[in-house]
Amino acid sequence: MTTIEPVAEERVSSRHDERFAGWECSEPGTFKKLMPPGPRPKFSWLRPSILWSARNDPLVRYLGDPTDEQRQQWVAAQRERRGTDDLTIDRSDLGDSFSFLIAGDTGEGTPPQFAVVPGLLKVGEDTAFLVALSDVIYPIGDVNDYVDKFARPYAAYPGPIYAVPGNHDWYDGLGGFMRIFCGAEWPAGKIRGTGLKAQLRRRLWRQPSICAEDTLGRCRELRPALGQPPTLPGPYWTLETGPVRFVGIDTGIVGNLDGEQGDWLREVSRGSKPKILLTGKPLYVNNKCEPGLIAGRDFTVDDVVRDPENNYVAAIGGDIHNYQRYPAPVDGRTIQYIVSGGGGAFMHATHTIPKVDVNGVSEDDFKCYPLRGDSLAFYSRLYSQKIALRSRALQIVPEQASALIASRVNSVPTRGGTTRPLLRTRVRGSFVGLLPSGQTFHKYLSEFATWVDPPLFKHFLRLDVSPTEVRIRCFAATGCGAQEKDPPVEDDFVIPLGGG
Ligand SMILES: [Fe+2]
Repeated sequence: MTTIEPVAEERVSSRHDERFAGWECSEPGTFKKLMPPGPRPKFSWLRPSILWSARNDPLVRYLGDPTDEQRQQWVAAQRERRGTDDLTIDRSDLGDSFSFLIAGDTGEGTPPQFAVVPGLLKVGEDTAFLVALSDVIYPIGDVNDYVDKFARPYAAYPGPIYAVPGNHDWYDGLGGFMRIFCGAEWPAGKIRGTGLKAQLRRRLWRQPSICAEDTLGRCRELRPALGQPPTLPGPYWTLETGPVRFVGIDTGIVGNLDGEQGDWLREVSRGSKPKILLTGKPLYVNNKCEPGLIAGRDFTVDDVVRDPENNYVAAIGGDIHNYQRYPAPVDGRTIQYIVSGGGGAFMHATHTIPKVDVNGVSEDDFKCYPLRGDSLAFYSRLYSQKIALRSRALQIVPEQASALIASRVNSVPTRGGTTRPLLRTRVRGSFVGLLPSGQTFHKYLSEFATWVDPPLFKHFLRLDVSPTEVRIRCFAATGCGAQEKDPPVEDDFVIPLGGG
């Protein structure tokens, strides 16, 4: 197995040295050269046409969720077309030891997505494949957006790319995702249902976009391997390797599974072979456990993951645009619950995560990137720029932000420094804390929040798999040239597999 030798951690991580967070950027990143030529198209969730095109989200919430039915239609069509019920990707050719990458919530087509690419190519030089985890294409999974938001950024990645869909891919009825990854020729059948709500929903439901004549050609010009052959058997799948089985699930718009997929999940999870779940929605996030409901079944996704007979060692989910790790004790074992959605789209705050105490995971066990102090400093800078007329009225320097967070969670600042937040830090921190920074904020005010300069606080994962262990590292992308050349390692841990 090829591994990158860890450099002394204190040299390379924002956990130990502020310089590696990208606050001071002595050399700009080269990533802008990868971006499409010409002006960047303007995009705003506040534009009526965008709100209308993303209407499947409120339709699901107010008129009921037809994604289960539509997914079943996609899967049935795939099984018929492929002549098998099997949804396995056989990668036994990789042998006993191999490495791969995960990049979560990638597809905004904005500078932060491209900023991840140089480090990802460098660290992933010898990797076997890449997994795009959740929200492959924003805002609505449109097949025509795959040119600049998928084929262009990953044009130089040599291996195959597998993917797990997220809610934004479903705003297109999963049409773009199925076309690109599964080679599906045309959308599944129309959604059914009786009653006023279902009728209304059927009339309003956004069907997949029509693929423009030149879309696939332009994609293949940039990334010749794209779609030849399709990399996925369906929207959910298993990837079978010698040491570990990877199980990718499709959590639709609201995060639940259809019953048929739930039964499939239980079936493919049986047995003592080590498994890692890859999901569009994380099971542990922001100090909460969200177990993942399954329609018409009396068990959850987390029940399957926690069942000792199934031997899951980790569950990695996208959707939230930062990194979080919860090593949860389960019946004498540890299952690593990871959020990894910082591979491209705008950053979700970590400073709003309270002191961690969930199902046996304590604050001392918890890891996140960006550090909460950096997240608070970032948002104080953002709000200073956007609403305080570019003054520094709300700005908190990273060391002070770190001291304030430490005082809130009864700890010491992660990278040392003062433990005493100034009074003005407390006042500014309270004010910034009151301002929105969650998903709704980004959904409707993403243009307002657009931030294209370092520090960008993006990340991707590298997994090194062998018969005895899986090593997982979280590499940062800040947008600075120095971290493109030597991406900081923000987390590095090993999961023993007990094989050999
Ligand atoms: Fe997302």
